[in-house]
Amino acid sequence: MKPVLSLLVTNIGLLATPEGRHARCGDAQAEITLQHNAAMGVEDGNIAYIGPAALAPPAETVIDAKGRLATPGLIDCHTHLVFGGWRQQEFLQKLAGGSYLDILAAGGGILSTTRATRLATEADLIDKAERLLAEMLTHGVTTCEAKSGYGLSFEHECKQLRVVKALNEKGPVELVSTFMGAHALPEEFVDDREAYLALLCDTLIPLVAQEGLASFCDVFCETGVFSPTEARRLLVAAQAHGLGLKIHADEIDPIGGSLLAGELGATSAEHLIASGDEEIAALAAGGVIGVLLPATSLYLGKPYAPARRMLAGGMAVAVASDFNPGSSPSNNLQLCMNLACLGLNLTPAEALCAVTLNAAAAVGQAQRLGTLQIGKQADLLLWDAPDLEYVFYRFGSNLVYSVIKNGRQVI
Ligand code: NIG
Ligand code: FE
Repeated sequence: MKPVLSLLVTNIGLLATPEGRHARCGDAQAEITLQHNAAMGVEDGNIAYIGPAALAPPAETVIDAKGRLATPGLIDCHTHLVFGGWRQQEFLQKLAGGSYLDILAAGGGILSTTRATRLATEADLIDKAERLLAEMLTHGVTTCEAKSGYGLSFEHECKQLRVVKALNEKGPVELVSTFMGAHALPEEFVDDREAYLALLCDTLIPLVAQEGLASFCDVFCETGVFSPTEARRLLVAAQAHGLGLKIHADEIDPIGGSLLAGELGATSAEHLIASGDEEIAALAAGGVIGVLLPATSLYLGKPYAPARRMLAGGMAVAVASDFNPGSSPSNNLQLCMNLACLGLNLTPAEALCAVTLNAAAAVGQAQRLGTLQIGKQADLLLWDAPDLEYVFYRFGSNLVYSVIKNGRQVI
């Protein structure tokens, strides 16, 4: 018979996927579809067949999964991927008991990475981030959100965003760009916060939106960083220019970031370690996805976000790495999947949804990514694992065997 598919992945022992084109919330986050002895066919980069291996149509190329587990490609929906330098010198301060906000207030932290990022050329940043992304791809990440926020000036924020654009054009990992000029107040504006906020709201946000340099705008709403009033001003400006809204909220102190996210109907609120019942109710009411970052809890020695209370309150929860050189210097989303179970107390089924469909929704791509369903982009992982539980139970090894992005085998 003449091949009708470009690619067929056959002999999938178990195909596990959430289903849908919107985030799954509350109890529905645990609903995963399981198919044994399955096959997935691809045409034009999209999924054209899912069903019994025995009934699959012929294809030009066939991959034999040899009984392995298949899931959607992983989506790391919160990273600070592009930065100059590292911060191993602060590791000693941290081990000696220095807190994250103390280090930042002393001119370290985000500000030290800003100095290094400003010194780096665009080519340096592309080269470094490309290698980090390649590592993420081998661990199963097929789509990655990347925030600016280490430039903190017109020139260097634009430079960071151009790096993300260039990496997205190179592929194979797809990038979603977030403008985060409100990551910290740059040192040269310490005596004039208003001037920096005006630069962000009146110049950078309109430019970033107009040039298509980012899809989202994010703000670090935290004690000593940006207040809820300032975050409101920034996010309202971003919304007026058509950017999606994200906010770093309740990471250390619950100062009102979640309440603002709920009120503005932000796409997502991130961290949420210190969220209480009032914050959860506001997020649920606003349909805001909670992007939880368990590696940051581990690394900062903080509690894990109250994921179970969020699900009980009807929220949708996503899980991401928060990869950055300070609070989460790991780009390993598989580790975060383990921590999603061990720290956040999600079940493997809930955690799978958290790094696939709900992560896709957190970057505004749930219509085309995040599940294995006909019509969606063919982003699929084969795991050296017999079932879903195994993936979450083993930890510290890379269990990904093969990666297919946009219908093409890339690992
Ligand atoms: O999400 N909290 C703010 N931003 C990052 C940390 C950035 C850094 O320390 O360089 C975070 O944890
Ligand atoms: Fe972050």
